[in-house]
Amino acid sequence: MKFFIDSGNLREIESLVPLGIIDGVTTNPSLMAKEPGDPRALIKQICRTVLGPVSAEVVATDAAGMIAEGRELAKIDEHVVVKVPFTKAGVTACRTLSNEGIRVNVTLIFSPTQALLAAKVGAAYVSPFVGRLDDIASDGMGLVRQIVEIFDQFEYTTEVLVASVRSPMHIVEAARMGADVCTCPVAVIEACFKHPLTDLGLEKFLKDWEKAQAARA
Ligand code: G3P
Repeated sequence: MKFFIDSGNLREIESLVPLGIIDGVTTNPSLMAKEPGDPRALIKQICRTVLGPVSAEVVATDAAGMIAEGRELAKIDEHVVVKVPFTKAGVTACRTLSNEGIRVNVTLIFSPTQALLAAKVGAAYVSPFVGRLDDIASDGMGLVRQIVEIFDQFEYTTEVLVASVRSPMHIVEAARMGADVCTCPVAVIEACFKHPLTDLGLEKFLKDWEKAQAARA
């Protein structure tokens, strides 16, 4: 499973890329709005840092506007993936941009039919929002299971990108279901590095080693 960082913050991204576990980045207008400066320049810097797929979202709401904006975003860097919301305009834009060879991530997916329709118009990724479904007492990971099952029946190349991730359990479930990508806020990735038994174990190894060295001295 690929790991993407769900962030528009360059410092956060730079802190994780050296670990070698990050395959890409997803952004959205809410995340980009938190960052100062020119958004296009930031997307470029993120692309050059991660050297993998970087989703940049359109803010136009009509198909022609999304297509024009998508073409401009795609020019920023070869790693840009144009993100469009699942609306009729988004589906229309996805078909056109995909036909032009521009990779599209169809976002705000909350049902299996939305994912199926996005795959039909050539989406490179679909982004089911699991946390936001859990927030309203719906089964976010259940949606992912259905999408993975549906895509397995056909020859769609569309990847299932699990988004709106809230905890490492979402990562575990996504991996068990065979989702292609999990995009995570930095805090969730950091949480995967915390285990008290690892910390205690390392502490003991180092103490034992020091004791042995002191006895030999
Ligand atoms: O990038 C889209 C998605 O991951 C948003 O997550 O936490 O705002 O529901 P969240």
